[in-house]
Amino acid sequence: MQIEDPRFWRAGAISVVIVMTAVLAFLTIDSLSAISPGGSHVPPYTVINQKIGYKFDVPVIGDKELLFGREFSAPETETLITKGKLVIQSRACMDCHTFFGNGAYYGPDLTKAWLDPAWEAWKSITAADTQEEAMVRFLMDPVQYRTWTRAMPNLRLSRNEAEAVVAYLKWMSAVDTNGFPANFGRLSATR
Ligand code: HEC
Repeated sequence: MQIEDPRFWRAGAISVVIVMTAVLAFLTIDSLSAISPGGSHVPPYTVINQKIGYKFDVPVIGDKELLFGREFSAPETETLITKGKLVIQSRACMDCHTFFGNGAYYGPDLTKAWLDPAWEAWKSITAADTQEEAMVRFLMDPVQYRTWTRAMPNLRLSRNEAEAVVAYLKWMSAVDTNGFPANFGRLSATR
C-alpha cells in the first residue's frame, strides 16, 4: 500500500515544506508593505504636515497644519523622522517609556504622546505659542517643567534633536493602534 511506502511520506513532507515556505514568504512581503510608512496600516511620514485628531480611538488625519511654522517636503520628513528615531534609540528612552507597548513603565507610553491633551496646559507652563514648541522646551529641560512625582532626567537634547523627536512622536500618533494605549497621556498623580 502507498501509505506504507516511506517515499510517499518523504514526498509529502517535502511538498508541505515547499508550500509553507512560499506562504511564509508571501505573508512576510505582504506584512512588510502593510507596516511600512505609507503602507495600508501606517501613514506616510508626510502626515506630520497635517492635523492629527483622535475620534473613537482612531487617529483622524485632518487638514494641512504647519509643524515648527513650516511644511516639510517628503524627503525632509523622512530625514527628520529617521533622526528622531535615532535620538530616541541613542538616549534609550525605552528604558523608561513604552512605544507601541514595548519598553519600560517608569514614564507614560509615548505612542500617542502627541495627542496628549496635557500639552495645551504645557503651552502656558513653557510659555510656548505652539504645542510642538512646548514639547521641545519640555524635552530640552524636563526637570524644570516637571509635573509628576517621577521626574524625567535632562537628556541634553539639542534643539534639532528635540524637534526631530517631536516630528517622530507626531508621526507615530497618526498610526492606528486599535485604541492602544487606553487613557494615554500623563499618568494621574494618584497612581
Ligand atoms: C529615567 C526615565 C526616563 C527617560 C530615560 C526618559 N523619560 Fe520621558 N518621561 C519620564 C517621566 C517620569 C515622565 C513624566 C514627567 C513629568 O510629567 O514631569 C516623562 C515624560 C515624557 C513625555 C511627556 C509625555 C506625555 O504625554 O505626558 C515625553 C514626550 C517624553 N517623556 C519623552 C521622552 C523621550 C523622547 C526620551 C528619550 C530622549 C525620554 N522621554 C526619556 C521618564 C523618562
